Amino acid sequence: MDTERKTDVPGIQWFPGHMKKAQRIIEENLKLVDVVIELLDARIPLSSANPMLAEIIQDKPRVVALNKADLADPAKTKAWVAYFSAHGVPAVAVDATKGRGVKRLVQLAEELARPKTEKFVKAGGKARSARCMILGIPNVGKSSLINRLAGAAITKTADKPGVTRAKQWIKIAKGLDLLDTPGILWPKFEDPSVGLKLAFTGAINDDIYDLEQVTALLLEILRRDYPERLIERFKLKGELPKAGLELLEAIGRKRGCLVKGGVVDLDKAQRIVMTEFRAGKLGTVTLDEVPEEGAE
Ligand code: G4P
Repeated sequence: MDTERKTDVPGIQWFPGHMKKAQRIIEENLKLVDVVIELLDARIPLSSANPMLAEIIQDKPRVVALNKADLADPAKTKAWVAYFSAHGVPAVAVDATKGRGVKRLVQLAEELARPKTEKFVKAGGKARSARCMILGIPNVGKSSLINRLAGAAITKTADKPGVTRAKQWIKIAKGLDLLDTPGILWPKFEDPSVGLKLAFTGAINDDIYDLEQVTALLLEILRRDYPERLIERFKLKGELPKAGLELLEAIGRKRGCLVKGGVVDLDKAQRIVMTEFRAGKLGTVTLDEVPEEGAE
């Protein structure tokens, strides 16, 4: 995407102290689990990833769930699943709100966990369920997925005093329990293009950046990659204006966001575009491309 045009987005929400605390909590919980479910946003699998994850989880087996797949370009999601698999990380497209892909996710986590517990028993240990936890940046759908899995689970296992005090485990498959509190990872803010994609998809708080500017930049990307969707959704006629703010103005005009003197209320227009984009009304969109081999 175009990173030439810089804007003052996004503000930093995660201070080093917060990151350290989040990391410490994750590391503590990691000791309790055999498998990690890394939740990414299928629309931005790169930008929604925490680059420190590999370092934090070390050699703990990991499965990737590309959540919100209902909002992402299906062909690109397929390419992302293949990309992760080719790099030795099983992956699956998921829609946590409707439950699509969730069964397969559980299956993959179970497969990854099995060797661990089997080895333990073979070595004379007492048979126990494998344990997994969900990790991901805010708003990626961790709670939705846990609720889905908890709803599907037949039993919610009780606290296990002594071993896992104050931890709740949800039985999500035969021999596989899920920690009911997810690990909250912080997003990476350093790269402005990543920050923008996090803003477009609603991963970071709307209050901390200039929404009109951000929406204008989103419109420029949509104009470049999906112009027909803009034309259709907002019933735009003629050539689309190149500048995002002009495009936003044209959309506002079409939607009747006018104030006194026929001036377009850009704030109202911006809210319409963002809400509709995030709800998938502009069709399925993926903003991160699979890296080209050799270019990593
Ligand atoms: P978090 O725990 O990782 O912070 O995320 P959470 O589950 O709270 O989900 C954040 C938002 O993303 C919620 O929307 C949730 O409904 C939505 N979401 C989660 N998974 C999916 C998915 O697979 N597809 C789609 N389309 N949306 C998903 P919200 O607007 O904040 O809340 P609500 O309106 O659903 O109550």
